[in-house]
Amino acid sequence: MSRKPFIAGNWKMNMTAESGKKLIDELKPLVKGAKCDVALCVPAILIPAMTKAVKGSEIKIGAENVHWAASGAYTGEISCEQLKEYGVKYAILGHSERRQYFGETDGGVNKRALAALANGITPIVCVGETLEERESGATEKVLSRQLTDGLKGVEDVTKVVIAYEPVWAIGTGKTATDEQAQETIAFIRKKIGELFCPKCAEKVIIQYGGSMNAKNCKGLMAQPDIDGGLIGGASLKTDFAAIVNYDK
Ligand code: PGA
Repeated sequence: MSRKPFIAGNWKMNMTAESGKKLIDELKPLVKGAKCDVALCVPAILIPAMTKAVKGSEIKIGAENVHWAASGAYTGEISCEQLKEYGVKYAILGHSERRQYFGETDGGVNKRALAALANGITPIVCVGETLEERESGATEKVLSRQLTDGLKGVEDVTKVVIAYEPVWAIGTGKTATDEQAQETIAFIRKKIGELFCPKCAEKVIIQYGGSMNAKNCKGLMAQPDIDGGLIGGASLKTDFAAIVNYDK
């Protein structure tokens, strides 16, 4: 089963309209002709300027979150309609930083994912265990819960992207080994097969995220179940293009 690789950047709370446009202008020629899908998920306030900046390139713009309600009294949130106005194609959901610092739950991730899907926005649903959970042997249990509760009621799971991001590897420079990442992502695919159907699971794009960079991307991308990356720190530099071009 061939799945089209998907490399996405996550700018988090970084960049400005000026520095973002400068980086995108540098990236455009470097990612020309990429064989994979490419996106940059950027802070909401930068979405209008960055959607303009990527015009005429293979880079798509994504958001870093989206709310489930169509509109209303949800201070600080952003709706699917507001994203769609700018042609936003993706939204990261349930990133571990959202879960850790802003109290996001699997139930909330689920509501956000269902709303995104209903609006034609591809959710990038993040799952992953903490160091404590890995060391206590709870990785599979945690991932099973995040997948079961986060994807509840999803009709077509092939429209969802999953990002496996071990919390201990995010921003720490400690990448999961190729084997660790492959083994865990194979488990995620198996679990999706059980929750939905094995055939659908074969079609789901599953990214690895956590200190992925220009050096380690080749080994990770060579793993049979790893279909891409969700890139934090390295997406703030032209290194991002080297990851997009991992196959060259
Ligand atoms: P990192 O972040 O690449 O800086 O580790 C990844 C992420 O949080 O998505």
